Amino acid sequence: MKSIFITGSADGLGLLAAKELVKQGHWVTLHARNEIRSKEAMQLVPGAAGVLAADLSDMQATKRLAAEVNNLGAFDTIIHNAGVYKASAQQILNVNTIAPYILSCLVPARRLIYLSSSSHLSGDATLKGLKSVPPMVTYSDSKLHDLILAKAMAGKLSNVYANAIDPGWVPTKMGGADAPDDLDKGFQTQVWLAASDDPKALVTGKYFNHQRQAKYRTESDDVEIQEQFLSICEKICGVAFQKS
Ligand SMILES: NC(=O)c1ccc[n+]([C@@H]2O[C@H](COP(=O)([O-])OP(=O)(O)OC[C@H]3O[C@@H](n4cnc5c(N)ncnc54)[C@H](OP(=O)(O)O)[C@@H]3O)[C@@H](O)[C@H]2O)c1
Repeated sequence: MKSIFITGSADGLGLLAAKELVKQGHWVTLHARNEIRSKEAMQLVPGAAGVLAADLSDMQATKRLAAEVNNLGAFDTIIHNAGVYKASAQQILNVNTIAPYILSCLVPARRLIYLSSSSHLSGDATLKGLKSVPPMVTYSDSKLHDLILAKAMAGKLSNVYANAIDPGWVPTKMGGADAPDDLDKGFQTQVWLAASDDPKALVTGKYFNHQRQAKYRTESDDVEIQEQFLSICEKICGVAFQKS
């Protein structure tokens, strides 16, 4: 049995992954944006171990969340799933880029899973928008950031499996009712990477679509870009990555 924390698990792919992992007998802690959504999440996943509330668009709230996760004890797996699409550049930055960065810096786990997207392929690898004040981060940029973060964690942390996922374009609140891809396949890769002992899941620094390694922006492998990314995130939120 694995202990697993999933951000944004009151809806969509986070909720579906949580339900499946609970069904498999894992100890799953949910996360939602506020107390009301937390109650709703617990009703939707009755077997969950618990739920933590934090609005990830608020960096201070994300830092408090990290402390609360650590107070619960050691987790085997964190799924960095919460995300926004139709939102301001600042919200996209805080929720999609900075929240997974802060949690990666402050919460250790053996398996780290980052929800990226095929739209990362059109993200800006120069990180220009991330550096600008105010930030000019698009959704595609933020999903490239998630991939860069996964690759950076994979490079820096030994004995850790850190990977990124493109779940496909699937019919969630974010994906919309007309999304063409298979909703089940949209969460199964997270579930597999979170808990399976399949040797194909025990890898690090990879980018998956539907349990297969997929084409990605190779700039994310560039250690200089990774270092630049970590350093800009540190400047933005005041949290430094320190190898534990
Ligand atoms: N669906 C797709 O086609 C698709 C494609 C590629 C990548 N992805 C990625 O997959 C991940 C999950 O997406 P999804 O389709 O499941 O989206 P979704 O249905 O919109 O769910 C997103 C989850 O994140 C939570 N969230 C958003 N902003 C938050 C905040 N400020 N604080 C705390 N929680 C917050 C939402 O909470 P509420 O329920 O309270 O709003 C929800 O539980 C995202 O990272 C997304 O970028 C999705």
